[in-house]
Amino acid sequence: MFKLSDKGLEEVKKELNRYEARESAIIPSLYIAQKENNGFITPEVIKYLSNVMDLPESRINEVFKFYTMFNQKPVGKFHVQVCTNISCALEGGREMASHICHELGVQYDQMTTDGRFTVSRVECLGSCGTAPMMQVNDTYYENLTPETAMNLLRGMK
Ligand code: FES
Repeated sequence: MFKLSDKGLEEVKKELNRYEARESAIIPSLYIAQKENNGFITPEVIKYLSNVMDLPESRINEVFKFYTMFNQKPVGKFHVQVCTNISCALEGGREMASHICHELGVQYDQMTTDGRFTVSRVECLGSCGTAPMMQVNDTYYENLTPETAMNLLRGMK
């Protein structure tokens, strides 16, 4: 059964106190819970947050399902999120995403067999001026080519 650590629970309570509307604390709380649940959110996590935050599960679920930064299933040690929105697409982002999948031998949102990588296509990450780009865990990598992206990934330990 999912339960936040004391520190995680404290952080969620701090977020609840920060805002006038409890709903405003949903996104930061999902981040905290995702981090403590090995990088993804389950219905059990939603239920737990609903109790802690005194909000309906449906309210938390709709935020969770809308944003791609919340994972609905386990992801690899390195979650490779390739932007395929318009600026990145114009600069080859879609081909780059497809190249990365091909090189790693996976489909989108599928984990490599060694558990190191999951590749996802995501919407604009707000770095359009440096397209094409990808985010690996919390770090942005910009002005990429399919080759430079793969070299970066190969070097990740
Ligand atoms: S379109 Fe890729 S970062 Fe905005």
